[in-house]
Amino acid sequence: MQEAFQMSKMITGAWISQMVYVTAKLKLADLVAAQPRTAEELAGLTDTQPDTMSRLLRALASVEIFAENKDSQFEPTPLSEILRSDIPSSQWALAIMMGEEHYRCWGELMYSLETGKKSFDKLYGQPIFEYLGENPEAAKVFDAAMTSVHGRESIPMATAYDFSQFNSMVDIGGGNGSLLSTILGVHESVKGAIYDLPSVINRTQTSLSASPVADRIELLPGNFFESAPAGFDCYLMRHIIHDWTDEECGLILQNCHSAMPDDAKLLIAESVIPAGNEPFFGKLLDLTMMLIPGGKERTEEEYRTLLSENGFELTQVVSTETEVSFVEAMKV
Ligand SMILES: C[S@@+](CC[C@H](N)C(=O)[O-])C[C@H]1O[C@@H](n2cnc3c(N)ncnc32)[C@H](O)[C@@H]1O
Repeated sequence: MQEAFQMSKMITGAWISQMVYVTAKLKLADLVAAQPRTAEELAGLTDTQPDTMSRLLRALASVEIFAENKDSQFEPTPLSEILRSDIPSSQWALAIMMGEEHYRCWGELMYSLETGKKSFDKLYGQPIFEYLGENPEAAKVFDAAMTSVHGRESIPMATAYDFSQFNSMVDIGGGNGSLLSTILGVHESVKGAIYDLPSVINRTQTSLSASPVADRIELLPGNFFESAPAGFDCYLMRHIIHDWTDEECGLILQNCHSAMPDDAKLLIAESVIPAGNEPFFGKLLDLTMMLIPGGKERTEEEYRTLLSENGFELTQVVSTETEVSFVEAMKV
């Protein structure tokens, strides 16, 4: 019986995920945080139906997202607060991205199993990063979702590795700059640069404008399949290598290799898959990599091989308090 209960929770997991998605899309958590509201009020504010809204809110309250008071108003809870769009550590953008593109791609898991191809490309007709380049609204959500899902890794990462050994570092595919600005906030003598696609660098400029370390960050537009910027002490890539096949990673690594001084360090920050059966978020994220960008999560041995095939030697793996580790490498 215990197993049947556990399995039925797994089977119906997508119900709750879609409830969370519509809650985020309609910004219900923001509305309820401003003041307790009835289902009728929330329906009026979101252009939805009072009856359906009332049933959604009852279901949400049953999983501790909002709590109904004796006046039939819905009040915030710790779980609804984290879904607000306007707070640090917000999970709002992640809920939107997972409920839209990711939900559709997971619906085509069988297609990817049968063909070995990315379901994203089948559904959207182009690869994810091209799609984001052409869809500014989805791109904004993607940038914010990266902070939702990876933002909590940044402080433990900034302190787990000794970045003060470097004068300069470049975050390859650094996106919205949240990791680099956290590292430079902790290590005040280091100067940094973000290298990303031109359309992303325009957005990075806006997202970094209020950062206290913005004057130590250079923004470098470019394509890591064509080149990497030369002359930095450290080449950092967080959640980049997992997006690509071994062949594509080879191109990125060879471009870094050509640009790096001989004593520079390469730091790949990823969820390094452990052996065994234990739960590990990276084992699930690996399937998202399969469906959407077409990459994979790797074991330490797979990183060692990938690096040595592209002119690097893996020097150490430094773990952090999160699932993400630094795979450090140097040119051979
Ligand atoms: C999964 S996100 C990771 C972002 C960031 N490193 C982080 O950890 O939050 C992948 C990043 O790679 C960038 N990217 C994708 N293709 C690229 C290319 N060809 N050249 C440079 N950057 C690219 C994307 O724009 C995006 O910012």
